[in-house]
Amino acid sequence: MARFKTLDDLGEIRGKVVLVREDLNVPMADGSVTDDTRIRAAVPTVLELADRGAKVLILAHFGRPKGQRDPRQSLSLVIDAVQHVLGREVMFVPEIAGSVVAQTVGILREGDIALLENTRFWPGEEANDAELARQIAANADAYVSDAFSAAHRAHASTEGLARVLPAYAGRAMQAELEALEKALDDPEHPVAAVVGGAKVSSKLEVLKHLVGRVDHLIIGGGMANTFLAARGIDVGKSLCEHDLAETAEQILDAADAGGCTVHLPYDVVVAREFAANPHSLRTCNVHEVAPDEMILDVGPQAIEALADVLKTCRTLVWNGPLGAFETPPFDTATVALARTAAALTREGSLVSVAGGGDTVAALNHAGVVDQFSYVSTAGGAFLEWMEGKTLPGVAALEAAAR
Ligand code: 3PG
Repeated sequence: MARFKTLDDLGEIRGKVVLVREDLNVPMADGSVTDDTRIRAAVPTVLELADRGAKVLILAHFGRPKGQRDPRQSLSLVIDAVQHVLGREVMFVPEIAGSVVAQTVGILREGDIALLENTRFWPGEEANDAELARQIAANADAYVSDAFSAAHRAHASTEGLARVLPAYAGRAMQAELEALEKALDDPEHPVAAVVGGAKVSSKLEVLKHLVGRVDHLIIGGGMANTFLAARGIDVGKSLCEHDLAETAEQILDAADAGGCTVHLPYDVVVAREFAANPHSLRTCNVHEVAPDEMILDVGPQAIEALADVLKTCRTLVWNGPLGAFETPPFDTATVALARTAAALTREGSLVSVAGGGDTVAALNHAGVVDQFSYVSTAGGAFLEWMEGKTLPGVAALEAAAR
């Protein structure tokens, strides 16, 4: 038995009402959606259901309105973008349950699509209130969960509905779960993980989980400084969590014990000020960082060595940039390693999975986001998956398939 049911298991749905949980939590500026990636991710599932003759009710959250109606966080604000991306007319319904939704269902024809209001306007959503889930379910025949990026929340629309309606994974959810399974649950070895970003403290659980699973752990970004400092290296003015030295040591010991090789940079790009192309820019060995300098990127020799590591690997999981990639030239290491990973993926020797907001931005910047095997736009959910946690929204789908 498969771990979860998909749209292939849904059977005849002509005229049936299907609730689809999507993630439409998209960034906006001046009333317009500035990145429609998440809306695009919803297209295959919504159109498949509509084309199979279902009446499709889209459920989603938008922002964090904390159980109250807030017109600034109404999903009516994204309806134009949703219609544009889907290429279909979509009716907006300012409720998620009750008679207004029932009336809407009455007037929808087979294949019609409606977008319900922001689920988080109702306090029962985040409380995962079973009664709210029942009220939402009362207007529908089936539930499709298609928002991996919200699956780390045990909310009525992400978890509760799977208990009260027949539950299926949508195409985006299915693709995400299959890609993630290949990357960490059942990967081809050797496996490399790149973990970067500013702070060790935000990724402690990720690192602890990975050292027991991967063959190579490549640490970059500000996080690497904490590990270098823990090894007694003077990192000057660099971003560094000195209070985590002991934890860093424990992670390095666990890696040793588990046969995981940890790669820290041995040459680095430093400057006295953090600005684009600063005068004080130089490359040096990690042991030669001056007290008034800060490490802002991984150096060229380390990049070459890391590329050689990737060439020996079959699987790569990537979260977080290697340097301060928004400010040139501190994007060099991230761009170079991302391009190596993309080339190896194109050649067919590497399965590459990346995720997290910063990571997607960095891969976009390197021009390789389409060349990885899978790139997840999930933020918190991707990190929790990298921590080895069971996501409530995924667990609910698995329970529904038993
Ligand atoms: C996200 O933007 O990562 C998801 O939509 C989840 O949003 P949340 O962090 O407000 O639950």
